[in-house]
Amino acid sequence: MRAHKIPSSGEALPVIGLGTWQTFDVGPTAVERAPLKEVLRAFEAAGGRVIDSSPMYGAAEEVVGDLAAELGFGDKLFLATKVWTSGQREGIEQMEDSMRKLRTQRLDLMQVHNLVDVETHLATLREWKEQGRVRHIGVTHYTDRAHDDVARLIERHPLDFIQINYSIAEPEAARRLLPLAQAWGVAVIANRPFGGGGLFSRLRGKAVPKWSVEIDCNSWAQLMLKYVVSHPAITCAIPATSKVEHVRDNMAAGLGRLPDEKQRALIAETVLS
Ligand SMILES: NC(=O)c1ccc[n+]([C@@H]2O[C@H](COP(=O)([O-])OP(=O)(O)OC[C@H]3O[C@@H](n4cnc5c(N)ncnc54)[C@H](OP(=O)(O)O)[C@@H]3O)[C@@H](O)[C@H]2O)c1
Repeated sequence: MRAHKIPSSGEALPVIGLGTWQTFDVGPTAVERAPLKEVLRAFEAAGGRVIDSSPMYGAAEEVVGDLAAELGFGDKLFLATKVWTSGQREGIEQMEDSMRKLRTQRLDLMQVHNLVDVETHLATLREWKEQGRVRHIGVTHYTDRAHDDVARLIERHPLDFIQINYSIAEPEAARRLLPLAQAWGVAVIANRPFGGGGLFSRLRGKAVPKWSVEIDCNSWAQLMLKYVVSHPAITCAIPATSKVEHVRDNMAAGLGRLPDEKQRALIAETVLS
C-alpha cells in the first residue's frame, strides 16, 4: 500500500483509510456487527490503518473500538476521531468518552468536527498534545463554504491535519485550500471521496474505460480514489463502506501507478460526462 508522510511528524500513512459515518452506526448484536467485522479484517489485511470516526456518528466509535479489540489489532490502527460540542468542559468529557469507546489512552488524531467551538477545543488540544494524550490535532469540515475558515485556521494555529471534502464531484479545495495546506506543512485527509456516494449513481451500467489499466485500475471506485490521492497535498482519503467487496476494491487504489495531470483530467471528464 502506497504511503504518504504526515508533514509535521514524518510518520507515513497508507493513502486509503476508512470512514465510519452511517456505515458503522449499528446495534450491539454480533449479527448486526458481523459484516463490519469483515470490513475491518479486510481493511487491515490490505494494509489499511487510518480510521475516522466521531461522536456525531452514533455507535460508530464503540463499534470500531469493540471490533478492533475482538480482531486483536492492538495499536496497528491510526485512530482519528473528533470533538463535536460547545464548551471546554463538555469537550474534555466528550473526548474522554471517545477514548474509552475506542479503547485507547492516546489518540493518533483528534479533530474539531465542523469547526464547532473551534478556538476552545484547539486550546485544550494543544495542552493534550503536550501531555501526550493525542499525537496529532486537526480540524474538519465537509462543505466548500467552510474552506475560507479552514484556511484562516491553518494560518493561525499549529495544526497537524485538516480534513476536508475533496473529490471529482467537489474539486473546489484544489483551488486554494490544498496548496495552502501544502505550503504550511499540514496533512490533508480527503473526506467524501465519492461525493458521499453520489458519483456512483452517474456511473451505473457504464463500463470502466480501457485506459484504466495504464494506471492499474479496474473499477470506477479505484479511478475516483486515485484521482483524490494523486493530488500532491493529499495525505489519505477515507472512503466509507459497509461491504467487504467494496473495501477490497477501495484498498486496491493504494496499489500500482498513480495518474499524472493529464490522466487526472481525463478521469474527472469521463466520470462527469
Ligand atoms: N465533517 C466531517 O468531519 C465529515 C463529513 C463528511 C464525511 N466525513 C468522513 O468521511 C467519510 C467518507 O465520506 P462519506 O461517508 O460521506 O462518503 P463517501 O466515502 O464519499 O461515500 C460513501 C458511499 O460510497 C459507497 N461505496 C464505498 N465504496 C464503494 C465501492 N467500492 N463501490 C461502490 N460503492 C461504494 C458506500 O456504500 P456501501 O456501504 O454500499 O459500500 C457509501 O454509500 C465519512 O464516513 C466520515 O468518516 C467527515
